[in-house]
Amino acid sequence: MKKDLLSCAELTVNDLNSIIELSQKLKKERGTPGAIKPLAGKSIGMIFAKSSTRTRVSFEVGIQELGGYPVVLDQGQTQMGRGETIPDTAHVLERYLQGIVIRTYKQSDVEGLAQNSRYPVINALTDEFHPCQALTDIFTMWEYSRGNLKGLKLAYLGDGASNMANSLMLATQLAGVDMTIAAPEEFAPVESILNRTGGAGRSRWTTDVVEALRDADFIYTDVWVSMGFEAEARRRMEILAPYQLNMANLRRAKPEAKVLHCLPAHRGEEITDDVMDSEASIVFDQAENRLHVQKAIMTLLMR
Ligand code: CP
Ligand code: NVA
Repeated sequence: MKKDLLSCAELTVNDLNSIIELSQKLKKERGTPGAIKPLAGKSIGMIFAKSSTRTRVSFEVGIQELGGYPVVLDQGQTQMGRGETIPDTAHVLERYLQGIVIRTYKQSDVEGLAQNSRYPVINALTDEFHPCQALTDIFTMWEYSRGNLKGLKLAYLGDGASNMANSLMLATQLAGVDMTIAAPEEFAPVESILNRTGGAGRSRWTTDVVEALRDADFIYTDVWVSMGFEAEARRRMEILAPYQLNMANLRRAKPEAKVLHCLPAHRGEEITDDVMDSEASIVFDQAENRLHVQKAIMTLLMR
């Protein structure tokens, strides 16, 4: 694997298979006496410039379970918040830490940190990408399809240009999953990612929800107003309203289709209560898997 996890574009099919295999092993062995401690003696920084529940807790617990020590920093309270440059920050932190997990706004800041640090940098969400979530989603689909990802159909409804849509396209292409995004013209997927051929999976875009949901094995949605885009809230809600994941739309997929959401959900906006709480919803298993998958990623990059 490459040194850093920045978007999913740096991964190969073999890397993805290693992550899935190790996630399964770590999930099974969690809490047993034989559980491995590959981060023993290592300190890992966790920098957050945006809110988080799952990422913050699952990384902090995961680092501790792997034997490491998590150093949690609010970006605004560091000197980065007062203008210390990304390269200077990286050169200082590499004297103390053996890895960094960062959630911030600009993808270029995460890339700059990675370029200027000897140690691995993991993107824990930027405006553009959310690779840890997308890899977790692949692992969750792998579990629910009993290891048969190839040829699965994933329908994604809503903001086709979000960090989730971007990383999910990259990850599904590698996994051999066919992803169809139903999104309006205003929030169409990024063309260079949509047309990428990283693996056997194909990404498609349509404005038609019914078309995207036809024969779908999994249905995914994400918030209409991502963190940092609050100024566009009203416009986004209006334009994305026809892309809601509600019961009528759930019924358009395969009868056994499962519902995924990275969470937090805005119930009543992109997803309705009855779908979130339905038998089809596997969102809390998906959230749990963040822990196992991130432990696998850290083990592979930082051991
Ligand atoms: N899905 C996700 O990244 O959740 P948080 O924003 O709570 O970390
Ligand atoms: N697209 C969402 C994902 C949250 C995990 C956001 O960036 O706010």
